[in-house]
Amino acid sequence: MTERIYNFSAGPAVLPLEVLEQAQSEMLSLNGIGMSVMEISHRSKHFAPILEGATAGIRELLNVPENYQILFLQGGASLQFSMIPLNFLAQNESADYIVTGAWGVKAVKEAQRCGDVNTIFSTADSGFKSAPLPDELNFSENAKYIHYTSNETIEGVEFKYDLDGRGTPVVCDASSNILSKPIDIEKYALIYAGAQKNIGPSGVTVVIIRDDLIAKVPENQHSMFDYRAIAKNDSMLNTPNTWGIYLINLVCQHIKNHGGIGAMQEKNEEKARILYDAIDASDGFYRGHADRAARSLMNVTFRLPSAELENNFASEASANGLDGLKGHRSVGGIRASIYNAFPKEGVKALVEFMKNFANQNG
Ligand SMILES: Cc1ncc(COP(=O)(O)O)c(C=O)c1O
Repeated sequence: MTERIYNFSAGPAVLPLEVLEQAQSEMLSLNGIGMSVMEISHRSKHFAPILEGATAGIRELLNVPENYQILFLQGGASLQFSMIPLNFLAQNESADYIVTGAWGVKAVKEAQRCGDVNTIFSTADSGFKSAPLPDELNFSENAKYIHYTSNETIEGVEFKYDLDGRGTPVVCDASSNILSKPIDIEKYALIYAGAQKNIGPSGVTVVIIRDDLIAKVPENQHSMFDYRAIAKNDSMLNTPNTWGIYLINLVCQHIKNHGGIGAMQEKNEEKARILYDAIDASDGFYRGHADRAARSLMNVTFRLPSAELENNFASEASANGLDGLKGHRSVGGIRASIYNAFPKEGVKALVEFMKNFANQNG
């Protein structure tokens, strides 16, 4: 087999090796049918159990009650920035947005096309380093929903609790931390996530939506924006991303076989601790971006003394089999994305590299 490297990409990101191997072994003939999953009808008897498996997998892993629908959409998490307000925010209505990073900013921009957006909390002025505590949040009285990003992938800032809307529907972009730890689904009216970090490949978005929110979809909604129609048609209003759903099914099985979400959380906490400890033990050579209380378990962001050193760090690391460490182009710095499928050995290898780099350049 071709040797694999340690892939710290923020997304599309590393997938479990066992999942890739299974997909490889089934590539030419899925379950002996003589066709690959990409060559069969989404309405065939061969695809039905895959869609059911992916849905049941997410339902089981996240403990999703029956009054929530699990949908597989296209258009990325970015389409949800628009689809949510297009359905739940009319021109004379308002919604509350909490902005803790770049993806929240984008969500606000799209919602503003539909109605009034109250940014009730933003850390933009302090450089997106923290997340609010529950008692720092005051929701507007008439908000149709509250939107937040549970993990800001670019800045590496994560909420450590499930936001309680105190009666107002909570909508959450969980693209970069879904399936990384248990969540209390019943706190949410809608959760969405692009699959390409913890769930599968890009091109498919998981939406978990509560029935009472589906009931609020306007009657004359465009079909492809219509959560009700998509739910009624089992995510097959049009041709879904069959390959993506197939891989989501395999990833869910993989997580179940490896102890479920609780085990993922344990592993993720350990990996993040090893890395943050190395940053904190570097005598200031490495400086974590996020405040300690909001440090992401998935995207570890840090700076070096200069942009030049950061560039050298990323390119030398890459030459040593540690790929994808350059921070997002909008913020610079270093970002190590260590999603579920990223191995602890890779984190240890990065820590070793960091020590050597600091010794040589400090
Ligand atoms: C938190 C978050 N939201 C939204 C997006 C946008 O996702 P997509 O590219 O699937 O539209 C990303 C992509 O990285 C993300 O990390």
